[in-house]
Amino acid sequence: MTLEASLRDLARDIAFEAGELARRRRAEGVSIAASKSTLADIVTEADREVEDLIRARLASERPDDGFFGEESDATAGASGITWVVDPIDGTVNYASGMPSYAVSIAAVRGGDTLATWEALAGVVRAPALGETFSAVRGGGAQVESEAGTQSLAVAMEFPAGALIATGFGYDSRTHADDIDTVQRVMPIARDVRRIGAAAIDLSYVAAGRLDAYFERGLKPWDLAAGALIVSEAGGSVEELPGDRFGRRMTIAGSAALVERIVERVVGTASED
Ligand code: IPD
Ligand code: CA
Repeated sequence: MTLEASLRDLARDIAFEAGELARRRRAEGVSIAASKSTLADIVTEADREVEDLIRARLASERPDDGFFGEESDATAGASGITWVVDPIDGTVNYASGMPSYAVSIAAVRGGDTLATWEALAGVVRAPALGETFSAVRGGGAQVESEAGTQSLAVAMEFPAGALIATGFGYDSRTHADDIDTVQRVMPIARDVRRIGAAAIDLSYVAAGRLDAYFERGLKPWDLAAGALIVSEAGGSVEELPGDRFGRRMTIAGSAALVERIVERVVGTASED
């Protein structure tokens, strides 16, 4: 077995366990532990507990690796491999009792951003949806559910227009710009979705359920696993430079559709 495949298998086992813990805690009732960047940006007790579980499991299985998670301090490792972890992506859905939340675990080598790391393996486990998306560098992407295992491929054609997902950050000062961006992209869209969990948006792009997804201000842990899953499903993930609030925009889909969205966002589109 390759190193990449063994990292994926480990991430998958841990993501299942972590997902079950999240689901159990959700059933028992969620308590908000704190607000972070804004009042809307919450962390629950479960986010912390799930990250602790993932961190402890990784430390015991791969003690030389680094760790970079949403809810605790990063540590550098000696192996060159770092685990980029979002214990619960879609925390607001989770706290509100909606099933679109996921555990996201990726193993990367290199830097701590999409532009500077090389992702080796990634897993997005959505326990309340019963689906696990995963990818291995150079080995393709797949989804597992009760229905079995299927390989993933991004959508290449959308005659009725592209089904596009997006997201809005927690800072209300940025909403007007994001709504303006949606308006720019709308002419090529069939419709728009706002699922509330970037890891799931990216996984759905990989599965061809969504044609594209874009959002400003994602954090490394929101996209580490999902971006690898998209590229291993034959798609493209691009990042545009920061806006006036310093937020880079992430755009995922087929390479051709990503280019069309970029043109619309930066205002150079000549079509439609
Ligand atoms: C958030 C979700 C949301 C996206 C935000 C993310 P969190 O992650 O992915 O869909 O719009 O940008 O921060 O806070 O639920 O882990
Ligand atoms: Ca999170």
